[in-house]
Amino acid sequence: MQFSWQYAKDFLTTNEMETMQNRVSAAHDELHERKGLGSDFTGWLDLPAKVDAGEYTRIKAAAAKIRQQAEVLIVIGIGGSYLGAKAAIEMLCAPFYNIRKDRSGPQIFFAGHNISSNYLAELKELIADKSFAVNVISKSGTTTEPAIAFRFFKLLLEEKYGKDEARERIYVTTDKSRGALFSLAKEEGYERFVIPDDVGGRYSVLTPVGLLPMAAAGIDTDAVLSGARDAMDAYGERSIEKNDCYAYAAARNILYEKGKTIEVLANYEGSLHDFAEWWKQLYGESEGKDGKGIFPAAVDFSTDLHSMGQYLQDGKRNLFETVIRIKTPRRDMDVPEMAGNIDGLGFLEGKTVDYVNTRAFLGTLLAHTDGGVPCLLLEMEKQDAYHFGRAVYFFEKACGISGYILGVNPFDQPGVEAYKKNMFALLGKPGYAEDGERLSRRLGTM
Ligand code: PA5
Repeated sequence: MQFSWQYAKDFLTTNEMETMQNRVSAAHDELHERKGLGSDFTGWLDLPAKVDAGEYTRIKAAAAKIRQQAEVLIVIGIGGSYLGAKAAIEMLCAPFYNIRKDRSGPQIFFAGHNISSNYLAELKELIADKSFAVNVISKSGTTTEPAIAFRFFKLLLEEKYGKDEARERIYVTTDKSRGALFSLAKEEGYERFVIPDDVGGRYSVLTPVGLLPMAAAGIDTDAVLSGARDAMDAYGERSIEKNDCYAYAAARNILYEKGKTIEVLANYEGSLHDFAEWWKQLYGESEGKDGKGIFPAAVDFSTDLHSMGQYLQDGKRNLFETVIRIKTPRRDMDVPEMAGNIDGLGFLEGKTVDYVNTRAFLGTLLAHTDGGVPCLLLEMEKQDAYHFGRAVYFFEKACGISGYILGVNPFDQPGVEAYKKNMFALLGKPGYAEDGERLSRRLGTM
């Protein structure tokens, strides 16, 4: 991942970047010496170099088994337990992977990332006459959304195949020794994969959480890990000048301190949409706390230039844009000829579609800069498994450093408990009765 802030030079100076070095170095020390806030959850830092060989072999074997036994894999999880795998599959498999006839692996559908009865009902119907397997992922093993979805698909498997065969089709990724899902998996004898204690949900894509669904989809996980390992080496350097990951973390904090409180991650390749969703969770949940934090937003260009483009160009000037750009598209083709040049685009004949996309990118970059939006640029060589792994590590590390610069614990998420507490109270969960009555009165339902 190459970082450049050359298009943000009207908003950010070399002197400011140099001044940030001390804070970056302090953040680097906190992270690497594991003495900063939340240091118990920094296992992701050297994860690419300490993959458990035995478990990795089991992941590959399970993926091969899934590919052979199932037309559909249902991946159940929410937040950090599904976003990374979804991002990888969307970015690295063919754009229409699930409906391509020449697909070599199972169709992959996600569940348990919402509480939509409609979604669950439709998904159940969709797979009714297909062979399927389930990978249920939950670090805590107690999260409501995936737990409800798992009930449905476990039942469906047992009805369809009987308990013994269902057992062969359920793959559980959870804590090594705790939680309801762990207990159930142990009791039922499901194949289990471990989410390490010191890796939080949103930093877990390079654990079995991401690796098993990726491998089941046919993604080269060796290449993903190799990219992450190279990133680990490349982004270990303390100097902002030599470390693009730290330069990105520094630049976004300087902009934040100047009132640019929203970061818009823009891509020019629609299949990075879910990667941006993963990124949003990583940064939103890591930095948004203690009344602080850059609000992470995302757009797909040029699609959203026709929806959000107006705001970005002319709206409130409290945002900056980070463009993630793939240098070489996976596929390209020439703009076709058209007799009569009715649409007036004859001047593009012989040019490639990516050539047009690149001009859209460059034109927008300059327009947004002129409109008062600092634009940071992140360039990725290729859209492949290796560069996906590199990008994951790049953003994880930048997030850890950035959170420490901001002065928050980037590895906890106390804020997400508030809705759960209220939901349980309103649902009448044992132990929450008093809160439930109080909340119902507030809602005017009593
Ligand atoms: O990053 C996080 O920790 C969260 O987003 C979790 O991944 C999410 O809440 C799901 O939790 P669990 O895996 O425990 O079901």
